[in-house]
Amino acid sequence: MRIPDPFTLVIFGGSGDLSHRKLFPALFKLYLQERLPSEFKILALGRKDVSDEQFRVLLVQSLPSDEGSKTKTLDTFLAHIHFQTLDISSKTDYAKLKTRILGLGSKTQENILFYLATAPAYFASVARELAALDLDTETEGKSWRRIILEKPFGNDLESADQLNRSLLDAFTENQIYRIDHYLGKESVQNILAFRFANGLFKPLWNHRFIHHIEITAAESLGVEDRGAYYDHSGAMRDMIQNHLLQLLAIIAMETPAKFDSDAIRDEKVKVLKALRPIIGDAVPEHVVRAQYIQSKIRGESVPGYRHESNVASQSTTETYVAMKAFIDNERWHKVPFYIRTGKRLPTRVTEVVIHFNGPGHQLFKGLTSQNIGENQLILRIQPDEGVLLKFGLKVPGAGFEITPVGMDFHYSDLITEALPEAYERLILDALVGDSTLYSRADAVEASWNFVDPILKYWQAHPRTKLYGYPAGTWGPPESLALFEDSGEDWRYPCRNLSSDDTFCEL
Ligand code: BG6
Repeated sequence: MRIPDPFTLVIFGGSGDLSHRKLFPALFKLYLQERLPSEFKILALGRKDVSDEQFRVLLVQSLPSDEGSKTKTLDTFLAHIHFQTLDISSKTDYAKLKTRILGLGSKTQENILFYLATAPAYFASVARELAALDLDTETEGKSWRRIILEKPFGNDLESADQLNRSLLDAFTENQIYRIDHYLGKESVQNILAFRFANGLFKPLWNHRFIHHIEITAAESLGVEDRGAYYDHSGAMRDMIQNHLLQLLAIIAMETPAKFDSDAIRDEKVKVLKALRPIIGDAVPEHVVRAQYIQSKIRGESVPGYRHESNVASQSTTETYVAMKAFIDNERWHKVPFYIRTGKRLPTRVTEVVIHFNGPGHQLFKGLTSQNIGENQLILRIQPDEGVLLKFGLKVPGAGFEITPVGMDFHYSDLITEALPEAYERLILDALVGDSTLYSRADAVEASWNFVDPILKYWQAHPRTKLYGYPAGTWGPPESLALFEDSGEDWRYPCRNLSSDDTFCEL
């Protein structure tokens, strides 16, 4: 078990939503699992003028209640937590921050992890201020300084590049941890295990045996209270540029020479760089954008995107994107990758579907009424994390009627507790200095390089079709056009979801 050195974790935006919903609960879980060292300090920073004690009282409401009942553990955890008022634009406050960190303890001040859970607009200035106070300097083998940033990393290629340069003025690449919480998901890491720990699928993992691949991230929620952010982002920036391209890179990468951070990230970035650019008139042919409109879901009226709070009444921001991408390398020659994401779809499901080629000669044609066609391997990222293999078998009895069946593995069968939250894994990794599951600058840049021409095209051609889809449906039927005349369609994991179902019908 990897236990970090004594450390101080300084959280900018420490009283914000992300800290309360994700960071503190994850830290508490790590503490309960005895994965944190005996000496550590967490210093939350925020605009509020509250004492350590008052902050701890506020925090208790965010911590998981079942564990919270273990009062003694909760109290000892809370004793590690402190609060400091900080106006992010005040130099005086930064000077006070340094004094506070140094005052928290001689052992814990050696290793400092700065977590920027703030609006991205502050990333560069915070990094600059920390460097000005020499809070970025580490001594090899004796002390470390690291900085974690939440996405988005820039708003387009140029701003991402600018942000990277500003960060690199203050910290080295090895000190920078860019979080993509998808990489912290157990089921995403398991794709690496599935692909590289087993011989069975290895020979099949290429254009000779794979017909096409689908990557879907469907969400049933709308933009909730994030309209102000989302209306300047949209599905392409919010989901595809980061989470889904990272997923694609893991699915498509070559076997790394060894299991270490650089080797794995080197292979992933090669995939991102090999993505065929979608430029100019190819954009409307390869990418479909859409926005949800008012509808009824299970009898309840749901507002359209333009009626969500903090969204412009004439907004053209896309809440749905479907696209066809190609990777120009030997392994994936001519294999289409269909990527789809959207808000207010029928259910929440993220999955990768590998569609294998059919058997060629159709021996049972004419003997069976079903069109079995291809085999599918479905890597379910969430919910009900697992792996499903679909193939055709004979229906018992006379004749040769073939029916589709599935071998279905659920990760819940392996463990008795819920799968760990992505943030638990990611925070612990940063504390022990393992950046494998974090995005490197070159990967962020390569992803922007791919999506930037699409965003620029939409900007330059505002009349590019923006379809409407009723909330609670699978997006616009026009997305089917991406399959051209191949007779293929998207997989609809929950097409027949009835009003009482909570899980997808597989
Ligand atoms: C975030 C996006 O990065 O990922 C959200 O900003 C999205 O819009 C979320 O809802 C999806 O994450 P998950 O883990 O719920 O699939």
